[in-house]
Amino acid sequence: MSDDAAIETHGLTRIFRRRWRGGEVRAVDGVTLRVERGTSFGLLGPNGAGKTTFVKLLLGIVTPTAGSARLLGVDFRRPEARQAVGYLPENHRLPSYWTAAGLLDFAGALSGMDPGARRRRIPELLELVGLREWADVRLSRYSKGMLQRLGLAQALIHSPALLFLDEPTDGVDPVGRQQIRAILRELEERGVTVFVNSHLLGEVEMFCREVAIMDHGRIVASGKVKDLTAGKGYRLTAARVPEAAFEELRALAVTAAYRDGLAEFQFRTREEVNRAVDLVRAQGGWLESIIPTSSTLEEVFMRTVRAEAGEETR
Ligand SMILES: Nc1ncnc2c1ncn2[C@@H]1O[C@H](COP(=O)(O)OP(=O)(O)OP(=O)(O)O)[C@@H](O)[C@H]1O
Ligand SMILES: [Mg+2]
Repeated sequence: MSDDAAIETHGLTRIFRRRWRGGEVRAVDGVTLRVERGTSFGLLGPNGAGKTTFVKLLLGIVTPTAGSARLLGVDFRRPEARQAVGYLPENHRLPSYWTAAGLLDFAGALSGMDPGARRRRIPELLELVGLREWADVRLSRYSKGMLQRLGLAQALIHSPALLFLDEPTDGVDPVGRQQIRAILRELEERGVTVFVNSHLLGEVEMFCREVAIMDHGRIVASGKVKDLTAGKGYRLTAARVPEAAFEELRALAVTAAYRDGLAEFQFRTREEVNRAVDLVRAQGGWLESIIPTSSTLEEVFMRTVRAEAGEETR
């Protein structure tokens, strides 16, 4: 049933007119995407790719030029679509004279929670984000990591089923990031769908099960992290490889090079690397190492974004 998806978009598009330089920007350009419920999903892309605009479109903050979307099965133009949705905006600012408890109470009231429900929910949330001791301290005394965690609590006040986080760990140190990741993991275990915008690839690789890479408003790659990064092959290094054997192996390999007196080859399949081993041994070479290699998300990202850039100059 198509209503099962947490997010479903069809040809979602937003074109901005540029007043100062004329022309237009296709910030989001015909995006068709489906995110299943309970998935941790990362939208990756370079600065200006359209990630924030995409999320703002879904949340009704920016109006679409074309296309449609459904959030948790409800048409995104209907206010009810946002009832079970939480949002942590990019570079959010919280008034510094507020306390954590005060802010969460206000956010809860805005979400239509009655005072009793807010009183029960707030300590629970402060516990989740590790700010229990700080409930009554003014935000002017909070570190950036604490403010980010409080922003997360604010987005969670009404126990949403779908959570949008725009650059949640921006400006947060490694310890703070680790804390945020742990919170997200806990939410995932509770079945919350988490949609993260980020340009921190390692971050997304560690947390998200699925990713899409966006560039110039379009999705240029998408899939499960393990599928996008898997299956790159094997790196073989060997010593004392005669030149004739080296040439033969070069023909078989994806790449071949001499490095620090060792011959180094990259092969795609297990069959190829085994043939290479036979060849090296038969020609009197010495095997140094065989290492299975997989791409990092960063490599996949650089490849796809670069390919797009190349397409454009053509
Ligand atoms: N209100 C607006 N008016 C005009 N152009 C806009 C507006 N909002 C965004 N844009 C343009 O749309 C494009 C996409 O911007 P967006 O902020 O969505 O990118 P992003 O992927 O979130 O980037 P970042 O990683 O820097 O946050 C950019 O070219 C931006 O200049
Ligand atoms: Mg952004």
